[in-house]
Amino acid sequence: MTVASKSVPFAHVFGYPIRHSLSPVLHGTWLERYRIEGRYTAYEVSPDDFVSTLGKLARTPGFRGGNVTVPHKEAAFALADEKDEAALAIGAVNTLVMLEDGRISGRNTDAYGFAENLKAADCWASRPEGHAVVLGAGGAARAVVHALITLGFDDIRIVNRTMERAERISREVGQGRTHVIPISQQNEEALDGAALLVNTTTLGMVGQPALEIDLKALPINAIVNDIVYNPLETYLLKMAKARGNPTVDGLGMLLHQAVPGFVAWFDPPETPAVDAELRKRVLAHLGL
Ligand code: ATR
Repeated sequence: MTVASKSVPFAHVFGYPIRHSLSPVLHGTWLERYRIEGRYTAYEVSPDDFVSTLGKLARTPGFRGGNVTVPHKEAAFALADEKDEAALAIGAVNTLVMLEDGRISGRNTDAYGFAENLKAADCWASRPEGHAVVLGAGGAARAVVHALITLGFDDIRIVNRTMERAERISREVGQGRTHVIPISQQNEEALDGAALLVNTTTLGMVGQPALEIDLKALPINAIVNDIVYNPLETYLLKMAKARGNPTVDGLGMLLHQAVPGFVAWFDPPETPAVDAELRKRVLAHLGL
């Protein structure tokens, strides 16, 4: 009698470069915690080789898919045989899941991660009424705008240095609930009366200049969220905290966005928890 060999499930995070990815630490913590025999590792692959690499892996026993990061998110979108609602709405795929029939499912979990992070914050339950302000109009802003729509915001104001990029997001992702505001008008037309301010720009990230914004028009009870997580307390969050605004840092978005992928690839006994221990492990890896 032959015993069918059971392949160890494995997934990767694909990027170029990829060495700074926190995803292996994050998924590694969960694999260990739930005693799952599986592997999750970083896979550096150039844009030229991305599609052929995926093709090869798809024929490898145990391959379950993985995360996709810069610069492969568009190629992953094109390559996926089917896409979930979030990926279609945002226009990018960050999670690939190999289906049993051999097809590849392309999903986007960034908006989910962003929304879950906000909902998990103590201040979320007592958030004020009002509109949301999104600073920035890059790839991250697309996921954030979509998430804000799913959270029920029907007035989302996008402020960006380059107006055309903000207009494009508004058109492609905004579902008629967004307005584009020039930086010169941000105090009167965006910050005034806001319930939530989110930074999606790269400003404030380690190695980048700080995001300098005059917060005086922002209501004192508005939640301020920075999706930058290194440093954990950005200059924006420090300024917001100093004047009394509730703040939410960006690490939780990264942690929460990993949950749906882990569930799909490794079939854990329970939904993996985003808790203090996971946060501690990832922060230690960042040296924070
Ligand atoms: P991501 O995919 O992480 O969102 P991105 O697509 O490079 O990154 O977008 C970066 C965002 O930060 C953009 O909104 C960018 O503004 P522009 O669209 O005008 O380029 C914003 N950003 C980056 N550096 C900036 C700076 N020095 N001043 C103002 N905005 C800046």
